[in-house]
Amino acid sequence: MQKLVIKGRKEISGKISISGSKNATLPILAASILGDHVRIKNIPLVKDIFTMIDLLNFIGLKTKLIKKENIIEISNNSKNINTLAPYKLVKTMRAGVLVLGSLLTKYKKAKVSLPGGCAIGTRPVDLHLFALKKLGAKIKIKDGYIFAQAKNGLRGAKISFPSISVGATENALLAAFKAKGKTILNNCAVEPEIKDLIKFLKKLGAKIHLKGRSISISESKIKNSKVVHQVIFDRIELGTYMIASSLLAKNNFMIDKIDPAIIRSEINVLRKIGVKIIQKKNYIIIKKSKRLKNINITTKPYPGFPTDLQAQLMVLLTQANGISKIKEDIFENRFMHVPELRRMGAQIEIKDKTAIIKGPTKLTGAEVMATDLRASVSLVLAGLIAENRTVINRIYHLDRGYEFLEKKLKNCKAEIKRI
Ligand code: UD1
Repeated sequence: MQKLVIKGRKEISGKISISGSKNATLPILAASILGDHVRIKNIPLVKDIFTMIDLLNFIGLKTKLIKKENIIEISNNSKNINTLAPYKLVKTMRAGVLVLGSLLTKYKKAKVSLPGGCAIGTRPVDLHLFALKKLGAKIKIKDGYIFAQAKNGLRGAKISFPSISVGATENALLAAFKAKGKTILNNCAVEPEIKDLIKFLKKLGAKIHLKGRSISISESKIKNSKVVHQVIFDRIELGTYMIASSLLAKNNFMIDKIDPAIIRSEINVLRKIGVKIIQKKNYIIIKKSKRLKNINITTKPYPGFPTDLQAQLMVLLTQANGISKIKEDIFENRFMHVPELRRMGAQIEIKDKTAIIKGPTKLTGAEVMATDLRASVSLVLAGLIAENRTVINRIYHLDRGYEFLEKKLKNCKAEIKRI
């Protein structure tokens, strides 16, 4: 099994370019089932994306991945379509459940494996199914599978989500594309990745309008002309490297291929802590922080501070002066990095949904275990600032979502290698 070995306390210099967003690419790939021919640019070459491509191939689409250019071309003109997403593909990547909405729209039926829980929480799909039922789908759960059907097509409805869900909003958008009449979705997630999906669906012919947390979709026809789309940058990867450089930058550190306007809340939070950020149109400059201040923060749906940056922020706060608190309000079990960080010397206590971090503390290298994607990268950050050597086990989690992690860091003079 592969491990990462990091020799900490090395300054980093130069620049990092941010890859395309994994969480934007996944629903756009699921949406490509709707089109005849699409070309998607700036896709990150990470495991979750490969799994979604395997799923599209399994369904019967033709995919051509041009790795050198981070482009995928997908055509859907097969007569032999399998409206099935099997357990083996959905269990490793929950976003597989997003093909449900597209399959229902295009083929009026779908059989999709229930994704089950995962390390960070139970993660049910009840909100996805709630929306699909409101649109007229007949849903049955049997043998671990969701059987969905809409023999006469779906019909528009007014749907108010009882709580905000990224995936449920995406599945509802995909299902509402051709639904008769008009659909209004209230209390939607409005993450930048959802806005990117809407942009893509509009190119496919969807009549969609977003206002606040409401999205209206009028019955639309799928265009059969070729659709080209460039995926937005990965704001979580950006946040991760902003934190790394604020702790380790030798001089001015540049992070480019981004749009800082999209990460206003992250920039505000980091500035409050004392991180020095110079903001330009499509890049930012980070300076090494001299004195970091404590902060109290709660993770929230966008435009709030993202749960996907909670673990990385915690590493930064181990270096801040005073007691910080992070309340995790999205997932019930997302503090699994805490025992590992403690083994590296961090002083962190957990009370219910809140982590209490005492800083600043010197971290020292240790052998640690990655438990999920974002927890894993927080251990990489901790290893980079810790004294001596850190060995991270189970790094397959990292490969699910960070494109060229070691290469990007090595290019900036960090000492990190995979063994
Ligand atoms: C997406 C992101 C993930 C991010 C999360 C929250 C992708 C591929 N993944 O995950 O990286 O951490 O948003 O920003 O984009 N919930 C229910 N019932 C449902 C659906 C969700 O109770 O049917 C709950 C979840 O358990 C969780 C909360 O709602 O507590 C938010 O989850 P959701 O926004 O749906 O996350 P995902 O779409 O799975």
